[in-house]
Amino acid sequence: MPKILVTGGTGYIGSHTVVELQQVGYDVIVVDNLSNSNIEVLNGIENITGIRPDFENIDCTDYVNMDRMFEKHAGIEGVIHFAASKAVGESVEKPLLYYRNNLVSLMNLLQLMPIHNVKNIVFSSSCTVYGQPDELPVTENAPIKPALSPYGKTKQIGEDIIRDTIHADKFYKAIILRYFNPIGAHSSAKIGELPIGVPNNLLPFVTQTAIGIRKQLQVFGNDYNTPDGSCIRDYIHVVDLAKAHVVSIERMLKNKSKENLEIFNLGTGRGLSVLEIVNTFEKVNGVKVPYRIVDRREGDIEQVWADPSYANKVLGWKANETVEETLRSAWKWELNLERKAKES
Ligand code: UFG
Repeated sequence: MPKILVTGGTGYIGSHTVVELQQVGYDVIVVDNLSNSNIEVLNGIENITGIRPDFENIDCTDYVNMDRMFEKHAGIEGVIHFAASKAVGESVEKPLLYYRNNLVSLMNLLQLMPIHNVKNIVFSSSCTVYGQPDELPVTENAPIKPALSPYGKTKQIGEDIIRDTIHADKFYKAIILRYFNPIGAHSSAKIGELPIGVPNNLLPFVTQTAIGIRKQLQVFGNDYNTPDGSCIRDYIHVVDLAKAHVVSIERMLKNKSKENLEIFNLGTGRGLSVLEIVNTFEKVNGVKVPYRIVDRREGDIEQVWADPSYANKVLGWKANETVEETLRSAWKWELNLERKAKES
């Protein structure tokens, strides 16, 4: 089976994608600098699939070592590029770190791909490129709005870099995937989201509060123009998201598209408020999530959810998991982390 390079393959979405790729037979090489992930994730992957992916501890901004890596693993046919910094708040404080990590890594890959005869790349983008859309649900044709953070800008510029590179040279094929909000964990609870320090994102904060690591969840605002006043997002099971990468890489390898560049929204098409997430989490898992309403968080978008019909039709992919099952998987993962912490 073809060799696929997964950058950021020990990270949250990356690790779930490695599992899905291996399970359909791909030979996976993981490149990660472990800046926001743990080497033990490889054990989790191996426990699920029975295969330990080849691993290279390299920073994707390091051109020379990336070149050597392509040489060593000659025959790579596709790249799935997750490796990036992703904390919105941190990006405001350290913009250069974000521009360097997120853009230099992408440019290195695009430069090295033709040298090593690698045509295909899947790029992790985000619904953040739409800002607050004028129309909901949001389609791929919605205008790109000015980004509110350097992180968001790196995703917009990353898309532009790919677009311009392909415009200049039809050697490349790319699929840009715009993720909505991935949550949950693998059903085995052997891999999941492992935030380092205090979580920025909703779900890890919810699970850590339910288990007692955090005292109270802060719900950022209940005065938005939404039915219950809290913000609305399209929460998608991370395994559903991971599967879309397998379909995308296959689409390029099998030349199923005439286009060299395609863009897809990856969401469920269902918008849920912060309070709906908290209430459903409590109900399906039989646990309490103490919370209080606080001020709005700067930069938050009021409401956004996907129109995934283009991805559904063209990729033949659909997010299948219910939100209940997704929230159960998140809790199972948190319980498993607690059990492991007690054992060690
Ligand atoms: N929220 C809370 N309390 C928290 C954390 C979040 O109420 O402690 C609310 C937020 O205000 C927001 C919703 O939960 O309404 C979701 O927030 P997240 O931080 O989980 O995710 P965002 O929708 O803000 O998405 C951002 C970026 C994405 C990026 C994602 C993951 O916009 O591009 O974080 O890093 F992919």
